[in-house]
Amino acid sequence: MERVDFLVVGAGIAGLSAAIRLAEVGRVLVVTKEELAESNTAYAQGGIAVAMGGDEDVALHLEDTMAAGDGLVNREAAAVLVSQGPRRVEELLEWGTAFDRYPAGEGGELMRTMEGAHSRSRILHANGDATGREIAVSLLRHVREGGVRAGSIELMEWTTSVDLIVEGGRVVGATLLDGEGGLRVVQARAVLLASGGAGQVYSDTTNPAVATGDGIAMAYRAGAAVSDMEFYQFHPTAFAAAGAPRFLMSEALRGEGALLVNAAGERFMERYHPLLELAPRDVVARAITREGMDGPVYLDMRHVKKDLKARFPGISRFLVGYRLELGRDLIPVRPAAHYLMGGVKTDVQGRTSLPGLYAAGEVACTGVHGANRLASNSLLEGLVFGALAAETMLTEAPLVKDELIAAPVAAGPAGVTSEAATEKWIRELRELMWKYAGLLRDADGLRQAKRGLDALRAAMPKGLFRRAVEARNLLVVAELIVASALGREESRGAHYRNDFPLHDAVGKHSVMQRGRLEFAA
Ligand code: SIN
Repeated sequence: MERVDFLVVGAGIAGLSAAIRLAEVGRVLVVTKEELAESNTAYAQGGIAVAMGGDEDVALHLEDTMAAGDGLVNREAAAVLVSQGPRRVEELLEWGTAFDRYPAGEGGELMRTMEGAHSRSRILHANGDATGREIAVSLLRHVREGGVRAGSIELMEWTTSVDLIVEGGRVVGATLLDGEGGLRVVQARAVLLASGGAGQVYSDTTNPAVATGDGIAMAYRAGAAVSDMEFYQFHPTAFAAAGAPRFLMSEALRGEGALLVNAAGERFMERYHPLLELAPRDVVARAITREGMDGPVYLDMRHVKKDLKARFPGISRFLVGYRLELGRDLIPVRPAAHYLMGGVKTDVQGRTSLPGLYAAGEVACTGVHGANRLASNSLLEGLVFGALAAETMLTEAPLVKDELIAAPVAAGPAGVTSEAATEKWIRELRELMWKYAGLLRDADGLRQAKRGLDALRAAMPKGLFRRAVEARNLLVVAELIVASALGREESRGAHYRNDFPLHDAVGKHSVMQRGRLEFAA
């Protein structure tokens, strides 16, 4: 049993941005499943959208966010995001985040690029296409060297969070599995979930292996409300060569002029949206899926007269392994699961429905993205709402109690499933989700998914090791997605029902809590 003031689950942009503030007041423990650098944040390529051009730019950023979200964006949350964004990004600059400038160096102007559904070039980037990594590294540097009270943040790697501990209706800590497989109990005045998304619930994803929806599953099991789980964003352009990983081909490629062509070599986006290649992501992803039924779809940059190796060094390095080059070859792409708009239901201050539990970043659902997130709004979300959640925790968390909480007994079904059988079980779940609860859905397929998930639940991997914990969490996330997708009998944003292709007149959020699904405006 350990006691800290604040427990932060996740060390990406939301978790670190919160921890830096929490450390001013108390002892903070930040836990992460792998090395510190291995978060969804570090995989974000294109950039961070921020309106640094004054009031008009902020107003336009708000309208772009609202429009992309297809009638379901929480305007209050979006207004907070776009108006507090510039201040938070200035802070990153003060902490040494090196966004790309022209000319390079301190005196240069910040470079801004265009991405889908933005009305202005407002996406800052770093090292060309490694924006998330630069932000993650600079935040960690700030935690370690930059004015954060010495010893007030402990960073614990290779630690899997297992379950939240609830006492008298309040979240008072969590059980953790450390790198050696030992169970630890941590008591905290308040717990922040900043554990990112759940792309691993699908067989095709741009997300790293750590993205198994742990925070959402833990919160749901503890009784918290989750919202809008049917809205999974599929990034339109993940690399699509046989046997290759679904490496992200950043939206910024299209921002810099990449076209989409089908197997016949024809541009096709004019048949789908007036903004063509820069249409909202859900539209582009569905268009590629439809065109992809007749053969491969490609990104074409052969006409772009820019130094693409310098602008996209990470993508260019990846493509070398497949003997491809951005300005010379057609690059095969298809959609892959990328970002969950839904998550643990929170208000704009990061409060969940459970006292003592807060959430920020991709794990949370403030409604800021509605049914479809605007490109490059996710890093900004982590930065802004991580800071806000920390401020709330500082004002609301009660003083730590003297008496220790009763350590929960980790009871589960007897026996241990082998690693190989656990991997097979996880693979089946991911393939089932891709096939029946992916980009294009209908009632028959979703019911098939539900039957498959019921069978998987009956054969759930047993034991207390990381992959068994992740399997348990993936199943909860999958069940939440399927139940909400079955319940939403309309098409909106990233959720497309072949059997209900139209919008309802009024946009409603789905909310699931303790097995009950409701829709509320
Ligand atoms: C990208 O670079 O396309 C990903 C950025 C994002 O998901 O907003």
